[in-house]
Amino acid sequence: MSNNSELHPIEKSLLRALLPNGRLSIEKLIEAANLSTDQVRRGIEWLKFKGLISSNDKSFTVISLGSRGQERLKEGLPERRLVNAVKEGNKTLTSILKNGLLKSDEINAAIAVAKRNRWIDLSQFQTSDKVILLAASAADNLSEEEKLLQKLLVQNKMETSELSAEERKALDLLRRRPDYIVEEEKKHSEITLSDAGKKIIGSSFADEATMERSLTPEIITTGNWKNVNFSSIDVIASTPALYPGRQHPLMDIIDEVKEIFVSLGFTEIDGPITQSGFWNFDALFTPQDHPAREMQDTFYISGITQDSFATSSQIQRISDVHKEGWSYDWNIDEAKRMVLRTHTTSVTIRYLADNKPESARIFSIGRVFRNEKVSYKHLVEFNQIEGILTARRATLRDLMGLQQEFYAKLGIKKIKFWPTFFPYTEPSLQSMIYNNELDKWVEMGGMGIFRPEVTQPLGLDNPVLAWGVGIERIAMLRFGLDDVRDLYGNNLRWLRSLPKCQL
Ligand code: PHE
Repeated sequence: MSNNSELHPIEKSLLRALLPNGRLSIEKLIEAANLSTDQVRRGIEWLKFKGLISSNDKSFTVISLGSRGQERLKEGLPERRLVNAVKEGNKTLTSILKNGLLKSDEINAAIAVAKRNRWIDLSQFQTSDKVILLAASAADNLSEEEKLLQKLLVQNKMETSELSAEERKALDLLRRRPDYIVEEEKKHSEITLSDAGKKIIGSSFADEATMERSLTPEIITTGNWKNVNFSSIDVIASTPALYPGRQHPLMDIIDEVKEIFVSLGFTEIDGPITQSGFWNFDALFTPQDHPAREMQDTFYISGITQDSFATSSQIQRISDVHKEGWSYDWNIDEAKRMVLRTHTTSVTIRYLADNKPESARIFSIGRVFRNEKVSYKHLVEFNQIEGILTARRATLRDLMGLQQEFYAKLGIKKIKFWPTFFPYTEPSLQSMIYNNELDKWVEMGGMGIFRPEVTQPLGLDNPVLAWGVGIERIAMLRFGLDDVRDLYGNNLRWLRSLPKCQL
């Protein structure tokens, strides 16, 4: 490694922090370099890899107060209690013991230590062999043991390497008293600058510090940029991936589809999710015994009917059309039953009935419900888009042209049409688009021109082109899914894998 401009700013900060001592514990290095723990740990790995530093585990001893040490500190060490007793006038051992100031097993050691501390003098009665105790001049001085214990009380923990010579002696003495002091062996990594590391800082590190890392508005406006040395930036270095909160990809597709409709001159309409059977089926010339109306296909809302669902003339004219066209007894009770709408065509037809437009471009997007078994192809609840165009001379050709435009805007170029059947359109078509990935044609949506049996009872004179398609189908194509349930699985890994904008 010869060129230090190839070092990352974190690496440079670390080397700079290490320079004065040549070595530091990780904790001290974090402080000295003024970086986060994480940055320091990463930087250390990089520098180790480059051979600019080395790290090794160093062990050290930490001391703290033991439980007995704590107790004794509170009530006074035995030697301290002894001196206090003497000062209070208890001059003989008998009186000290009698007054319960020290226990008999403490007293000999206490005398020895108090003497060593020069806290007491011993003397003898002239008349007998009895020893008498006298407080000496140093009796009020704290002993080294007391000082160390008190310091530990305040600091909680100390490393033995931080102790002064006196404290070290005190520690030796305290070690002899069980449970006064607790000692723990610990390890930490110490980082050492290698020779290569020293060399690399030595040469040009001084002017490195004056290198400018960021281009600020000040540097530009003051014209200072002409004099400043900019450090180089690795513009192709990878960055951490960001996963901010975002809209669900399906909602992105819905937004995109709305944009497309608007760009084609369409206006959005909305309608209720629950509908009377009348608007979901009857107004669309779907006979009351049609299989789609059965419970196996449609969710009915039990216990609720809608009594005033349409005007009496609308009901009259539509029931007439059913009687004539399908030859059966139309039953108003069937029309009153409430359903979870099975298609957005119910919204379309209501809009047409209410507004009777001569020409219009309208779309709606919303949830629809089908009583189906959930599988890789089917959900019981999905989103449908519906478009209608009415104009005096609208034709099937216009409808197919519109589909081509619509799908082209979604990036789908290959499309074809297939005849099919819906009770409410004639002719009816199904659009198929070519899926390059699957290498096959897939069914997209249904469409057609509303039959006179649909338009005439509602007073619509011009042809109405209509089409509907499931949004989930479009999303599956876009995201390359072959199971529609994946869209609703909330699989975070998948959700995160989808770029918010396609590059
Ligand atoms: N309603 C049809 C469906 O749900 C789609 C369609 C809409 C067909 C409009 C013709 C006209 O599949």
